[in-house]
Amino acid sequence: MNAIDLLIKQHRELEARMKSWGEAREAAEQRRIFEDVGDQLTVHLASEEQVFYPAVKARRTEDILLESLEEHLSLKRLLSDLLELPQDDPTFEAKFKVLKEQTEHHHKEEEENLFPKVRQLLDGDSLARLGEEMAALQLKLRREGEPREAVSTQTDKAAPLK
Ligand SMILES: [Fe+2]
Ligand SMILES: [Fe+2]
Repeated sequence: MNAIDLLIKQHRELEARMKSWGEAREAAEQRRIFEDVGDQLTVHLASEEQVFYPAVKARRTEDILLESLEEHLSLKRLLSDLLELPQDDPTFEAKFKVLKEQTEHHHKEEEENLFPKVRQLLDGDSLARLGEEMAALQLKLRREGEPREAVSTQTDKAAPLK
């Protein structure tokens, strides 16, 4: 799948999953959704940081990419905090809402500011190859199990723009 189509599809899926967290009735269901949100978010960010961003780095995208990496750091810090918190902690819901809002904001920025520039930089074949590479990395991370657990090691500073 074309890299941009893949990322946009995952943005909508993650947003829907985050919304369903607030609608879940039981604590066990909410926990399952939260862990799924954590895994989806983690593999998405990893594939952007390791595959997509390096491939679309150019003079006209560099500022947006650096800002995006800082936004990723903020998302990872929130997720890492949430993974440490018991779900019935009084701050859990507030923190989850902030994660949801920041994620939606970040998706909007990528879709409105970054992806249009990437479409000018790369042709369809390159985007298709990138999409395959990202999907393969995401699958590998999922096969290794509980990808969300990796975020706690990535909260120090933003990933470098390679
Ligand atoms: Fe994204
Ligand atoms: Fe991103």
